[in-house]
Amino acid sequence: MKLWGGRFTKPTNQLVDEYTASINFDKKLAKYDIQGSIAHVKMLHACGIIPETDAELIAKGLKEVLRKIQSGEAELTEEHEDIHMNVEKLLIEEAGPVGGKLHTGRSRNDQVALDMRLYLREELVRIVQLLETVQQSLLQQAQANLDTVMPGYTHLQRAQPVLFGHHMMAYVFMFQRDAERLMDSFKRVNKSPLGAGALAGTTFPIDRQFVADQLNMEGFCENSLDAVSDRDFVVEFLSSASLISVHLSRLCEELVQWSSAEFSFIELDDAFSTGSSMMPQKKNPDVAELVRGKTGRVVGHLIGMLTTLKGLPLAYNKDMQEDKEGMFDTVDTLKGALALFAPMIESMQVKKENMYEAVRKDFSNATDLADYLVEKGMPFRDSHAVVGQVVLYCIHNDKYLLDLSLEEFKTFSESIGADIFDALTPENVVNARNVPGGTAKNRVEEQIQTALDVIGRTNQWIEQQEGIVQS
Ligand code: ARG
Repeated sequence: MKLWGGRFTKPTNQLVDEYTASINFDKKLAKYDIQGSIAHVKMLHACGIIPETDAELIAKGLKEVLRKIQSGEAELTEEHEDIHMNVEKLLIEEAGPVGGKLHTGRSRNDQVALDMRLYLREELVRIVQLLETVQQSLLQQAQANLDTVMPGYTHLQRAQPVLFGHHMMAYVFMFQRDAERLMDSFKRVNKSPLGAGALAGTTFPIDRQFVADQLNMEGFCENSLDAVSDRDFVVEFLSSASLISVHLSRLCEELVQWSSAEFSFIELDDAFSTGSSMMPQKKNPDVAELVRGKTGRVVGHLIGMLTTLKGLPLAYNKDMQEDKEGMFDTVDTLKGALALFAPMIESMQVKKENMYEAVRKDFSNATDLADYLVEKGMPFRDSHAVVGQVVLYCIHNDKYLLDLSLEEFKTFSESIGADIFDALTPENVVNARNVPGGTAKNRVEEQIQTALDVIGRTNQWIEQQEGIVQS
């Protein structure tokens, strides 16, 4: 007999059981479901709603149920639909009829919202931690490449030289914002919906703050209808996760390009590359491609969740059961990618000479020639036009700017002197961009210092929250 079977005259059609059950995926919530139930039952006793002996028997039974679920001894069935009713059923088997007191003043609607929040708050901490390892790997490459000059691109056309370390630091700051978004969302996730009941609250004299305190949550959801209907926290997570995936994907795209023979700027370590079943010579950047590819499913889960929620009246609707698989899959997908990323970045080989060659055989110092003329008193718009002529001359004569003689330079402007040759070297071109945030070596060093400071604060946050989610 079903836990809610009282008003029914016949058993549910088996197809309905199969179709409506969520146990196959929400069993992932068992630990949090039981954690929440233990807090609830302690509160029921503390508020004088059930006797202490009953509360103790129930708590003991719940711990045993968790042990049996985790060891695989307990059978979870579609007949009992979801993790909440399976646990309750197992509890009654374990502790006897007293187990039936657990659900006093509670509904699966506030229960499931709590379970999801407890699950997500823990995963948020893990994901921030993994992001930090990716940042560290990028920082390591940045530090090792403070003298590595590469072409910087716009429109994927060589634009101005930058330091490879500068390029790596761009991603460090992206991932920092990503981490900050997750850390900020934590406080909205970490609130207790328990006490909302099915939608309207409960007639029992419960203590919502007591439950929140037991679970190390920052208070409770203020409105019972909102508490059971809100999946903002899932959307917010999926949105942050989508942005992380997009950032990873952009870096993946660069890794794929850079490891092609056409660029040949990096080589991924053999341990992070794969081969071809047919072409013996191949070494493919599969990991980077797959991380790029999986962005589609993460963004898909975000759109899926928003679409599921969009037409729902208050309060709970069964549609909301669709909130779980996308969230679980996003967590797993993201953690998988981030765990691989740090060692892949750390172990990649940077082909500094090839990068340098690409800068040498290029006009990416053209802006510097224009800026040089500006310093000699020419309006920038005029110097832009003059340098355009110089570049055209070079293209016709199969030369680069540094191949020109002083006489050739002077045919374009009398104010060009011998110091131009120094001004146009890749190193000087890079170091001339000496503004905060610029690509000059000392500015990239500043960026590394700033990043280390903020990451230090992230680490403090991780430590604090670990204490909260693990108790
Ligand atoms: N399995 C359900 C879910 O995930 C739990 C809540 C069910 N509530 C209900 N009134 N049917 O959403």
